[in-house]
Amino acid sequence: MTQPPHPSRCASHLLPRGEKDGIDRRALLAAPLAVGTLAGCDRLAVAEPTPPTVPPLKSIAPFPIGTAVMAGHFDDPAWVALARAQVNQLTPEWEMKMEYILQSLDRLTFDAPDRIAAACEREGVRLHGHALIWYSQGEQAFSGFDRTHFGRAFDRYIAEVAGRYRGKLVSWDVVNEPIAEDGNGLRDSHWSRNLGDDGYMIRAFEQAKLADPEAVLFVNDYNLENNPVKGTTFLRTVERLLKAGAPIGGLGTQSHLDIEIPAGQISRFMRDLGSFGLPVHMSELDASLRRERGGDFRSRAQRLEQQRARVVELAEAFMALPERQRFAFTIWGLRDSDSWLRRDNRDDGKDQPLLFDDAGRAKPLTAAVAEVFGRG
Ligand code: G3I
Repeated sequence: MTQPPHPSRCASHLLPRGEKDGIDRRALLAAPLAVGTLAGCDRLAVAEPTPPTVPPLKSIAPFPIGTAVMAGHFDDPAWVALARAQVNQLTPEWEMKMEYILQSLDRLTFDAPDRIAAACEREGVRLHGHALIWYSQGEQAFSGFDRTHFGRAFDRYIAEVAGRYRGKLVSWDVVNEPIAEDGNGLRDSHWSRNLGDDGYMIRAFEQAKLADPEAVLFVNDYNLENNPVKGTTFLRTVERLLKAGAPIGGLGTQSHLDIEIPAGQISRFMRDLGSFGLPVHMSELDASLRRERGGDFRSRAQRLEQQRARVVELAEAFMALPERQRFAFTIWGLRDSDSWLRRDNRDDGKDQPLLFDDAGRAKPLTAAVAEVFGRG
């Protein structure tokens, strides 16, 4: 197991002290056959093969295994038991972002991220900070400034937030999702309009480095495997920022996978991403069974096979990176029911994008990923 950049005590548990220490792995790993019923256009669902007993992912992966967390999860014993068994790194799903912290520029709220940081600190579980600067947040609070005051407020926010968690986390997503949606160039945002297209990113990394010199500083984006144009623009942007002296310490690919992309696309991108020699964070894996484009006549078995094939390709591509570059493999939620994809208005309640089912049981997909990680 690679050692995290920060000295990390071995994770004892995420349960409050005094809880029994045993893990009832059978309860976690038992995956009774879910024999589907005749429903809608899904013909009689085929009974799921019971996956072989799957050892905890964090114990077989030669790198940290992460998941997204919300402060409220620590009040759910089932979530805590599953997280304690399976992962050794956490990423706040939303409560370390401006939308939670920045009530206004002179009123910052830290109760939830502090609770998450305290849980990680107490249990020796790594904390990955997410996200300091994101195009989609902060516009209202930062509006009304002239450029000078905008820059000062920008610096002050990063200093305050990254400074607060210095020594409590191992890394930050300093800039999240800077590439345009279609992959052609950079996103236009209040950050780029006030501080320059590359300027705001270089400044964010410089300020984060000042606030927390030990943290690994990531730039993080999505659809990089799904859309080769966007992936290439991301790589070119990283190259340009590094040349400009931005202290980028790691590269995050979110991997919200489109399971219908051609085989090989993921592997090619991961190989190119690794060519910088920097730590790579596979930062937000989920693999929706839904097709956003409508008109989906695939059977459930076909969708599950596509999902398995792409997630295995991703796991293999990550495993193929040099050990020192395998920062962490983070799944964007533990149980399917924890997924953001199950909280949006397009959800039909049937999506199964993650590695554990609604009851926290391993799935055939879990076994497939575990087999790849077990190749060591
Ligand atoms: O929990 C509160 C609830 O108490 C309140 O009533 C409700 C209405 O305000 O909000 C709830 O919080 C929401 C939270 O998700 C939990 O559901 C926030 O409003 C909502 O903004 C937040 O959305 C998150 C989103 O990022 C925006 O921060 C999603 O959970 C999270 O999965 C998603 O994650 C992003 C990554 O940060 C970046 N990559 C893409 C990924 C998916 O969009």
